[in-house]
Amino acid sequence: MQINFIKKNNASNSVKSSSNANAKATKINLKIHLITKELLKKNNLPNLKIAQNSLDFEAKFLQSAILANKDSVEIFLGCGDEKKIDNNSLNKIGARILMLANGTKYSEIEVLNHFNDEAKNIANLAFGALLQSYRFNKYFEKKKKDKEVKVEELNFVTSDEKSAQKIFAELEILAKNIFFVRDLVSEPSNILNPESYAEICKKIKVKGLEIEVLGEVEMKKLGMGSLLGVGQGSDKKSHLVILKWHGGKKGEQPLAFVGKGVTFDTGGISIKPSANMEDMKTDMAGSAVVVGLLKNLAERNAKINAVGVIGLVENMPSGTAQRPGDVVRSMSGQTIEVINTDAEGRLVLADALHYTNTKFKPKLIVDLATLTGAIIVALADIYAGLFSNDDSLSKNLEESGQKTGERVWRLPLGDEYDEMINSDIADMKNVGSGRGAGSITAAQFLQRFVGDTKWAHLDIAGVAWKGKGDALAHKGATGFGVRLLDELVRKYEK
Ligand code: BES
Ligand code: MN
Ligand code: ZN
Repeated sequence: MQINFIKKNNASNSVKSSSNANAKATKINLKIHLITKELLKKNNLPNLKIAQNSLDFEAKFLQSAILANKDSVEIFLGCGDEKKIDNNSLNKIGARILMLANGTKYSEIEVLNHFNDEAKNIANLAFGALLQSYRFNKYFEKKKKDKEVKVEELNFVTSDEKSAQKIFAELEILAKNIFFVRDLVSEPSNILNPESYAEICKKIKVKGLEIEVLGEVEMKKLGMGSLLGVGQGSDKKSHLVILKWHGGKKGEQPLAFVGKGVTFDTGGISIKPSANMEDMKTDMAGSAVVVGLLKNLAERNAKINAVGVIGLVENMPSGTAQRPGDVVRSMSGQTIEVINTDAEGRLVLADALHYTNTKFKPKLIVDLATLTGAIIVALADIYAGLFSNDDSLSKNLEESGQKTGERVWRLPLGDEYDEMINSDIADMKNVGSGRGAGSITAAQFLQRFVGDTKWAHLDIAGVAWKGKGDALAHKGATGFGVRLLDELVRKYEK
């Protein structure tokens, strides 16, 4: 899909500029008008009266009314109260534009924003439309029309098309990296396994982004018994991938991002029930966000030092798999009794977190993981769970969440929860005693591997994949976390 920004005066004869270098003239006959409640009161657009009087159009947020003449179609799209409009709602309006346009037979569409023509606003409309246009289509051999986005060109009319294009250019990079994450998360596990995933990482070529891959031999030398124990039942070799971006001052402590990359989680010997087990191909979503984020920081030349570390394993039952009751020794020296082999994400993160903390001495660590089913019980697919040992980092994440619409909700940590993971025969066990607080005891486990470093854990089990989609993503992988953490990084950038 091509997104263009066209000069207001030229709109009706549709001379295109900007991203479409060789301007060409096209006949566009689907127009989408963006209407706020304030505008509806003034009501000086032809046909808007008809929409209001006959179609009950009140310009409520995302309400739409369609009018067809013999040679053109107009859609009025409600934007609600003008003062409530922010980047977030503009993204949602943009996404709705794409959905509405895609429900017609027109492939070239003109969008007219009648309320606020600021370049930033126009660019954010386009960003929302672009995010909504993503589909994971690669495995359809017979092209299915209803699965494709039919819209070929979205033309946003504006008085300052050059500025809109400029702002959109950076958002387009962000969208491409979100799509990169969605692709990885959607990929089935016979294609994406710890070995092929490490190869994909090695092939990322972005100027200044350094990528290092550790195999099982190196990890064994480092003493990563916790991570390696999870992968030992799989035929595929476990890997640790490290991504480094130096955009800040030399010697400045980096921000660190750590991701759970379980390419498939059967549960291991504590095997999962078969219903919905296919969803466990998404159990590497945290790691994909880390890769997409680091790629984005490099591509937008962020003025910061950052490091990403992802632990790639496959959790399989087999003759070589670890058993419930096994005791493993983590790189930190702490020992772990593996009560349940399905609580594997924390075992992977334990070593990835300790490695990150001791090797890079980061300013802060944020980890992302599809860690617990319990977080879905608590927050569904609306908020990610946030756990942290630092109030200012939490506040920064909450603010970034509000701003980007990728929202987080903080849950408590504390000594009483920490006690629940004490083991009778080792330093800790990998599940809590008692039934409650499954997401908290998982976070408590992680906290034992970050020392005093400022740290936040995001449990994205609910938000990484949305079976019904949401305002900005068609059903499937969301890429949740890339926008949130890109925004967080901006707070630390100089
Ligand atoms: N990968 C799962 C968590 C998960 C569940 C992610 C549903 C996405 C959707 C994780 O490894 C897991 O199995 N957690 C267990 C922990 C339990 C054994 C303590 C869970 O939540 O049931
Ligand atoms: Mn599991
Ligand atoms: Zn898992």
